[in-house]
Amino acid sequence: MNQARRGVRCGLDPRVDAVVPTTGNRDRELAAAISELKLVKDEWEIAQLQDAIDATVRGFEDVARVVPADRGVSERLIEGVFGLRARHDGNDVGYGSIVCAGPHATILCWKRNDGLTVPGQLLLMDMGIENNHLYTADVTRTLPVSGTFSPLQREVYDIVYASHQAGMEAIKPGVKVADVHLTCMRVLAEGLAELGVLRVSADEAMDPASMLYRRWTLHSFGHMLGIDVHDCAAARPDHYREGELSAGNVLTVEPGLYFQPEDDMVPAELRGVGIRLEDDILVTAEGAVNLSVGLPRRAEEVEAWLATQRDAGPRLP
Ligand code: GLY
Ligand code: MN
Ligand code: MN
Repeated sequence: MNQARRGVRCGLDPRVDAVVPTTGNRDRELAAAISELKLVKDEWEIAQLQDAIDATVRGFEDVARVVPADRGVSERLIEGVFGLRARHDGNDVGYGSIVCAGPHATILCWKRNDGLTVPGQLLLMDMGIENNHLYTADVTRTLPVSGTFSPLQREVYDIVYASHQAGMEAIKPGVKVADVHLTCMRVLAEGLAELGVLRVSADEAMDPASMLYRRWTLHSFGHMLGIDVHDCAAARPDHYREGELSAGNVLTVEPGLYFQPEDDMVPAELRGVGIRLEDDILVTAEGAVNLSVGLPRRAEEVEAWLATQRDAGPRLP
């Protein structure tokens, strides 16, 4: 039995639980050890992630081809089109597709997907394909349904883009994970101050005693990625969230800004706007490589890519 206690995780499979007594801390220790072993990806794993990400890029292209500029389509049509690509080019989606028309983008992990796109509004899609070895991508893009961002949408998009860019530029071996987070959040806080939404300075909002900016940023800058979408989640804090990056880590960078439809602290025209940008980043000896570079990031590149996909028209895998 001691052998079994050293070699299994409880709480995952009732058949295993039935023959292994509750082991308290030992389960947590094993989960932590497995998570920590997964932190640095080898070449084969990186190739699997790239395979999943490349399929995900094709899935986003498929979707952009079926979202018209001038009328609504259902979030579930988008989920279905992406799901077809996932089943054809990989094993499945790596997590339930998050397809957010307009204000649904302000609800994190919106998976009900029962809304309709609206010309003039934004479409946030957080989707990832799991390849046949079960490694998953995790990518988010926010598109202007009508084809071009309105000036206000563009202003918010550019803040999120700047945060995303700053986060990616900060990534290299030896950098603290928490510092990448602070880098992304500072750019968001400065953008919120410039928008006039933050009624204190970015410095005051970044003070740990305040963190007022978090009303509109809602989540951390990202997480490790691999065979799980939130990979290595059981790692001890000093090996992960409070630790430093190492070559071979693969992690997301995914800052966002979210203005709830009923948020009376922001101007009416911002209410219901939610924007996130998420890419999958490999830490290398020299710095970082964006594995999901196959999708555009800058606002004008997103607009041009959307137009190209629409011109090309729908396609089957
Ligand atoms: N798709 C889940 C996440 O971005 O963490
Ligand atoms: Mn993510
Ligand atoms: Mn995501």
